[in-house]
Amino acid sequence: MDKFVIRGGNPLLGTIRVGGAKNAALPCIAAALLTDEPVILENIPQVRDIETTRKLLTAMGAEVELGYGRAQHRTTISCRNLASPEASYELVKTMRASTLVLGPLVARCGRARVSLPGGCAIGARPIDLHIKGLERLGAKITQDHGYVEASAERLKGGEIVFDKITVTGTEDLLMAATLAEGETIMQNCAREPEVEDLANLLIKMGAQIEGAGTSTIRIKGVNKLHGAKHAIIPDRIEAATFIIAGALTGGDLNVVGCDPQHLGALLRKLEETGVKTKQTADSVRVMGDNPLKAADIVTEEYPGFPTDAQAQYMALTTQAEGTSIITENIFENRFMHAQELVRMGANIKIEGRRAIVRGKSPLSGAAVLASDLRASASLVLAALVADGETIIDRVYHIDRGYENIEEKLRGVGAQIRRIGEILPKKAAVRA
Ligand code: UD1
Repeated sequence: MDKFVIRGGNPLLGTIRVGGAKNAALPCIAAALLTDEPVILENIPQVRDIETTRKLLTAMGAEVELGYGRAQHRTTISCRNLASPEASYELVKTMRASTLVLGPLVARCGRARVSLPGGCAIGARPIDLHIKGLERLGAKITQDHGYVEASAERLKGGEIVFDKITVTGTEDLLMAATLAEGETIMQNCAREPEVEDLANLLIKMGAQIEGAGTSTIRIKGVNKLHGAKHAIIPDRIEAATFIIAGALTGGDLNVVGCDPQHLGALLRKLEETGVKTKQTADSVRVMGDNPLKAADIVTEEYPGFPTDAQAQYMALTTQAEGTSIITENIFENRFMHAQELVRMGANIKIEGRRAIVRGKSPLSGAAVLASDLRASASLVLAALVADGETIIDRVYHIDRGYENIEEKLRGVGAQIRRIGEILPKKAAVRA
């Protein structure tokens, strides 16, 4: 298992580029299941979750072609023949978003068999809302041996009111409804930019969708969708991670290739902490030369403060003067980074869904364990300002969602390197 070795103390200076959004790329790849014509996607990040989705589609009979060289972020997916509309536990267990294939498969093939994702480190994360929604569209659902089976000769449009806002749930049902007979109205939908990006691809494929990006989406089902070409939006969470890194290290960092309009809640909060930023249409320059002040956050659905940037923001508050209260509203168990930050010297108390961070405490390098994707990012950020060397274990979590983060950070002055596991001699011979 790879580890990161990070030596803290350097301010981040220069320009860092943001890639395509993993969370938009995942549903867009799944959308290719809806047509027998090729779908060409650009600005696809090269991260582990994307690789898992490619494997998922290939196992069903799809042809997935990867771009090389300058076109390395392009993928062409052709789902002409889908021999087996199934997503196995082996793949689903490593990535919950695999559930995104459920809706498109029933819509296109009339049946789907998808493993239940089970729990994950940040909470139970059920998929009941995906299932309820598909039932509203006329699918027959059964569950056994850890799998959900859905079938419908043809889905029928209907009214879906989500009991709770769900991002992948909205995306899954949006895809399903594009091929249903008649009109579907979905209420209390997720308004995340990734939902809108998926809708834009589906519209290019011939779908009739209105209202994506708002809480009510209307879809008029069509008989067939066709191929299309689409460029994925920039990753707002990768951008948020770099912006926080610039602020935390007292650097002067230009985060380019992002969309500041998707970062409103974070940028407003940073202003409160005393961080100066300058924006253009596709960049945010962050100047961290002021002392940081404490500021509370509450994570919410978009356009609120994103739960996916909560851990990184917590690293920042350890270096801010005063007490910051961080309330996590979306997932019930998303403070695992806190105990690792405490091992580095932070003063953090967890009370249910609230973390109370008292700053500013000097951080010192330590051996720490990454527990999930965004928790790993927060440990990297803390290590950049810690005294001495930090070793972060289990960085495969970070590889799920960040493309070459160590190279990108090294390019702006961070001292970070990746080391592979050193196997004992005998084991190495056997391997
Ligand atoms: C997506 C993002 C993830 C982000 C999360 C919240 C992708 C691939 N992942 O995850 O990075 O952290 O949104 O912004 O886009 N819930 C139910 N029943 C369901 C579905 C969800 O109770 O059927 C609950 C979840 O347990 C959670 C809340 O609803 O408490 C929100 O989850 P959801 O928006 O579905 O998260 P994901 O789409 O899995």
